[in-house]
Amino acid sequence: MSRKTLCQIDLHGKRVLTRVDLNVPMVDGKIADATRIEKIVPTINEITKKGGIPILLAHMGRPKGKRHQNLSLSQLQADLQTYFKSKVIFAAECIGPSAETALQIVKKGEIILLENTRFYPGEEENDPKFAASLAALADIFCNDAFSASHRAHASTSGLAKYLPSCAGKLMVAELKALESVLDQPERPVVTVVGGAKISTKIALLENLIEKVDCIIIGGAMANTFLFSKGFNVGRSLVEESLKPTALKILKKAEKYSCKVILPTDVIIAKELSHNTPTSVVSANECPENYMILDAGPSTVDIIKQCINSSKTLLWNGPLGAFEVFPFDEATIQAAKYASLRTKNGDLISVAGGGDTVAALNKAGVTDSFTYVSTAGGAFLEWLEGKELPGVACLTEN
Ligand code: 3PG
Repeated sequence: MSRKTLCQIDLHGKRVLTRVDLNVPMVDGKIADATRIEKIVPTINEITKKGGIPILLAHMGRPKGKRHQNLSLSQLQADLQTYFKSKVIFAAECIGPSAETALQIVKKGEIILLENTRFYPGEEENDPKFAASLAALADIFCNDAFSASHRAHASTSGLAKYLPSCAGKLMVAELKALESVLDQPERPVVTVVGGAKISTKIALLENLIEKVDCIIIGGAMANTFLFSKGFNVGRSLVEESLKPTALKILKKAEKYSCKVILPTDVIIAKELSHNTPTSVVSANECPENYMILDAGPSTVDIIKQCINSSKTLLWNGPLGAFEVFPFDEATIQAAKYASLRTKNGDLISVAGGGDTVAALNKAGVTDSFTYVSTAGGAFLEWLEGKELPGVACLTEN
């Protein structure tokens, strides 16, 4: 089934209800990272260039159907005008008279920003009445929020029942990147799966094992695998109760001929703090009062060799406690190597989810990866092989 894209639709004179992700990190009322805004600029430009009116629909935070002034999208209005280089009219309500007034006064080239859609209980309930009220404002529904598309909400999927629907330019780019690594990738495919807990990544590992050629496991979740193999992991963060799960995952990997790379050497310290003294030991020799906090140099060499012999790389999660120096070393080394291979045209590298973007930013390689997703939870659910409601609705329509 094919998805209709924004570029295939006649937008002239059309009001385009455009679901975007404006859930940007805020510090003291200021945007701390505007990546999600920068990435929707091409979609907004496409709509206005073709004579349509973008009506932005988005959430911020999790207000659970209640109005919270600190989560009002009004605080983004001025910055959005700067990024979009056009006037942004803010409607203090998502539906009803305030939104209708905005529609009456908006001029060609201008943009309407509706209030936080999660201020309304009907949003998360995917209430058909709420979706129909939103739909009444527009002629077309464009979903450009891949990163919110794991939610079956009125603004992400319910709307598709009421309006002709299409994928925005960022949505198309996200799907193209993810499909390029999992659907018909250039092989071999290697995946880096890092992060603190395997409990949050079991489904993801189970799914990837069936699809990729090699999985590099890093971060504290690697400790649980080492512990399960009977290694000494000292005071390392470990999910002991998941030993059977870890062993089952390793067995499944064997069945599917998916190579699993675990650390062979590790960086240990007595505590997780900046510039604390560290040592390198073999992965099964972490002393009682020490913690494993990063992969060691020999492991990094093995990871580089693996990346070197792969054509496609999918990266989710850091290899160590990257936010604390010097435990960012393995992540930075491996990310830089992947970036180099990508720049040389030898590797397709796609990354996303949670801490991953922060880790790649720290390594200074975000711009040289083939694609870095703006999504957190949606990226993970996609890797788990789940159908995302906000994507599925674009093909059903
Ligand atoms: C995100 O920040 O990952 C998206 O905006 C989705 O937010 P949510 O997890 O609150 O649905």
